[in-house]
Amino acid sequence: MATIGKDINKAKELLEGGELVAIPTETVYGLAGNALDSTSVTKIFQVKERPQFDPLIVHVPDLDHAEKYTVSIPPMARKLASDFWPGPLTFLLQKRAMIPDLVTSGLDTVGIRCPDHPLTRELLRQLTFPLAAPSANPFGYVSPTTPMHVQDQLGEKIPYILDGGACDVGIESTIVGFEGDDVIVYRAGGLSIEAIEKIVGKVQVQTHSVSNPKAPGQLKSHYAPRKKVIVGDIPTLIKQYPDSGVLSFSNDYQRKYQFILSSRASIEEAARNLFTALRTLDKQPVNTIVTEFVPNEGLGRAINDRLRRAAAEG
Ligand code: TXA
Ligand code: MG
Repeated sequence: MATIGKDINKAKELLEGGELVAIPTETVYGLAGNALDSTSVTKIFQVKERPQFDPLIVHVPDLDHAEKYTVSIPPMARKLASDFWPGPLTFLLQKRAMIPDLVTSGLDTVGIRCPDHPLTRELLRQLTFPLAAPSANPFGYVSPTTPMHVQDQLGEKIPYILDGGACDVGIESTIVGFEGDDVIVYRAGGLSIEAIEKIVGKVQVQTHSVSNPKAPGQLKSHYAPRKKVIVGDIPTLIKQYPDSGVLSFSNDYQRKYQFILSSRASIEEAARNLFTALRTLDKQPVNTIVTEFVPNEGLGRAINDRLRRAAAEG
């Protein structure tokens, strides 16, 4: 089992020695290693059982550091960073050669973000290298939002989990790229599109799954529990699947196995609870998880995207 603790020095020493450490962020826990060291990065792919065609996000303490690892920062990215960094927003930017090709799966762009968590920011400030960190779950499964989620699945494979408590946002970062003055959203996430549009005007949204995705977070079946997930009208689905567990937005369906994301119908609270809910129902004695979409606004878009992917076959 991994040690769970709040010791930044211990995390730092392990990372400097080329080991992996699970780190807290405001979105989800990351499985971190030295982004400039191919051996550490290789370990990340191995521990996650992640195919090497799926690139990693690089975490930095601030925009100055992002500048060190990228060719240039477009004006739109600067604007967004000044409002939303540190925060749940990842930029796809032209990488410099010092970022190993392994990190970006051979792409010439690197995903880069400054996470908003005091422990991890302090750790990043103390390190002389940035941290490559995908979500700390086996490839394809639901992301972890507590240290125990990480322990459950990767505890045998990593030495240390830096304990930053439960994640505040609870859903992965929003990923954006830039073409001239256009901002393109590739993954809906913990920063709403409405918030981004307030700063940069209308954005393009390309979050649908395609066969050769620019952001393979677009893979259709992803973020998925092991149980079959069906999205629709819950009362109808309960009749069709009497042995199911119910994941509802705010209604109480009085079921033995159910999880209400937010009884006060708060989308932020629902996002914070989503992955714990899926993990909890996945462990209960039900054969199917039936659920419903939440209002498709704010973080609701990201929640609905994850539900759609959790329900996708294969
Ligand atoms: O909130 C987050 O973003 C979390 C925390 C730990 O920072 N990280 C995360 O990483 O969700 P991961 O690896 O689970 O998802 C990152 C997504 C992947 O789908 C990957 O394909 C995409 O970002 N990505 C990374 N670099 C990319 C690049 N250069 N071009 C296109 N997509 C990229
Ligand atoms: Mg992930």
